[in-house]
Amino acid sequence: MRPGCPGHENTRKAGRQPQRSGRLDVSGTRLVAFNHLDYALSMDSLIDPFGRRIDYVRLSVTDRCDLRCEYCMPKGFSNFEEPEHWLSFAEIERVIGAFGRLGVSRVRLTGGEPLVRKGLARLAASLCALPGIDDLSLSTNATRLDKQAEALNSAGISRINVSLDTLRHERFKAITQGKLDKVLNGLMAAKQAGFKPIKINMVVMRGVNDDEVEDMVRFCLEHDFTLRFIETMPMGDTGRSATSRYMDLQTVRARLEQQFELIPGVMPGGGPARYVQVAGTELRIGFITPISRHFCATCNRVRLAVDGTLYLCLGQEDKLELRPLLRQGISDAELEQALIAAIAIKPERHQFTEKPEQVVRLMSLTGG
Ligand code: GTP
Ligand code: 5AD
Ligand code: SF4
Repeated sequence: MRPGCPGHENTRKAGRQPQRSGRLDVSGTRLVAFNHLDYALSMDSLIDPFGRRIDYVRLSVTDRCDLRCEYCMPKGFSNFEEPEHWLSFAEIERVIGAFGRLGVSRVRLTGGEPLVRKGLARLAASLCALPGIDDLSLSTNATRLDKQAEALNSAGISRINVSLDTLRHERFKAITQGKLDKVLNGLMAAKQAGFKPIKINMVVMRGVNDDEVEDMVRFCLEHDFTLRFIETMPMGDTGRSATSRYMDLQTVRARLEQQFELIPGVMPGGGPARYVQVAGTELRIGFITPISRHFCATCNRVRLAVDGTLYLCLGQEDKLELRPLLRQGISDAELEQALIAAIAIKPERHQFTEKPEQVVRLMSLTGG
């Protein structure tokens, strides 16, 4: 939990108290279905077989979205998860609570579009108060931020990432089916509410928006936003068809270097972006290059979908279904054991290049 979170002083004293798994009796439980039980019993924190410590959970609170970005969700898509399959806030808190006891300190709220889930600020406040969780962030399309920014910030979300691929109205409509003005209003409300940093995510697509890279740099300079460029990933059919517009970000970087002096730097967040700072300014630019220079060796995250599926890698289908366990009355200790065992099957890396057809789920299911 970060200072400023509701309840911070009270819960801080409890600190993070990892519950030792060695004392747990997991024999005869649902966990025996798991092949990696021995591994789980030998661990008391979330370190995968490749030595990576998992301390970051991306929590998708809905698979719905009010936009239809062409690389993310098909036009007219409506095959969403049934509401009775959504994890309730209480179930989410249980899972994140268990992650917190096992060493996870960062949680990112994602979607679909997380702001379409009612009561998000309430959920944020309760997650923020969980022992161990000291960084709660949000990835959003910002269409609903103008009304919710203040409440989300007060609930303890300190930093946000906003998807914005273009600053041109017609083009925004073509890419997302939505209205640019709503996003710009949302961004201004976020600034006003005090989020810091605000990071702009721009998926760079050849022939679609690559001519706006420099405009986006100027926009972020003007508003004190951080800018990140992202390479298109072949997630689901929509992601795959978008890869025909894939653009290697090394090209974008080389282009920017002709105009700006870029100094290697860092940013808080613990995500996959590699940052540079534009000399003589406060502007940081991140490059997220899953295709041209992947970052799987330093992966620190897993993803929890709205239906309770824990996905162990963005680029693979390996998963653990937590909803049935939660609804069959698993104990906290068993839940921790299940999470540890799941980390034992975390894949080494994605295979977006070798097997682009592999991931069938849409990006919108886990929000990146
Ligand atoms: P911070 O660095 O904590 O601010 O967050 P982030 O960059 O991880 O989160 P964000 O939701 O803004 O994601 C930005 C882009 O990075 C999206 O396109 C994500 O799909 C992508 N991304 C995030 N995590 C991973 C990952 O583990 N693997 C891959 N390949 N891409 C990721
Ligand atoms: N490839 C790369 N990034 C994607 N995003 C959504 N779909 C894709 C894709 N196929 C990005 C969004 C958002 C972030 C969470 O993920 O633009 O900024
Ligand atoms: Fe919605 Fe984000 Fe997917 Fe766009 S990228 S359709 S904003 S979930």
